[in-house]
Amino acid sequence: MSKTGVIGGSGLYEIKGLTVKGKKAVSTPFGRPSGEYLIGEMGKAEIVFLPRHGKHHNIPPHMINYRANIWGFHKLGVDRILSISAVGGIKKGLIPGDIMILDQVLDMTQNREATFYDGKGGVVHIDFTAPYCPELRNILMKAGKRVNVPVKKTGTYVAVEGPRLESAAEIRSFGILGGDVVGMTGMPEASLARELEICYAGLSVVANYAAGISKKKLTVSEVMNAMKAATEKIKLLLKETFTLIPEGRKCPCKAALKEAKI
Ligand code: HPA
Repeated sequence: MSKTGVIGGSGLYEIKGLTVKGKKAVSTPFGRPSGEYLIGEMGKAEIVFLPRHGKHHNIPPHMINYRANIWGFHKLGVDRILSISAVGGIKKGLIPGDIMILDQVLDMTQNREATFYDGKGGVVHIDFTAPYCPELRNILMKAGKRVNVPVKKTGTYVAVEGPRLESAAEIRSFGILGGDVVGMTGMPEASLARELEICYAGLSVVANYAAGISKKKLTVSEVMNAMKAATEKIKLLLKETFTLIPEGRKCPCKAALKEAKI
């Protein structure tokens, strides 16, 4: 049976309604993942859950072992990942609480292990024209409609290194470049999943106005409160999404390594 992974971001350290069948600590050639993977069921779907910052939110974005996390899902037989994250809203009109199905990425991270192919297994250049799985994105849209949770159907995610928040000028420039939201964890997660031919979709919750958009100082409690407020909607959306995910995959993600190796 097809298994779907869920990566929980800030404020999402468990999925309520998930029938937990067990926990798995996974070792990988790249070190340790953020914690144990929760293995469970929601309806008929098999779910593997990992909170990316650790169960007690003790791993900052720039210290997350992204390669180990994604490798762990792969090792557990996951072929699709839904990634939940908190973001700051850059685009005019976005307000805290908005939920966005991402469709593009601007990667501004600086200091991360961003590939499984560092020369030993051959030289690989995966196609990243469309960074997120089109099939999963469509399913998320359909699920949103069905459970009446409004979602923004597209959005460009700017991935920054962190852990500091941005300057107003950085946010202004990201907006000019076409960025809609900003976060610290979306990359290299998405491209690592593609390197293992795992479908990956990003579901972002606008937790705050990005720096300089509102005159207020940004605070962590603002981000956490917004994420808490969105938990119920995210849960509804995920639950419906699991019922809509088909067994087989028709998207290009499953053959990402074809014609990608030199
Ligand atoms: N910037 C970067 N990452 C974030 C933000 C932000 O404003 N909000 C939540 N994660």
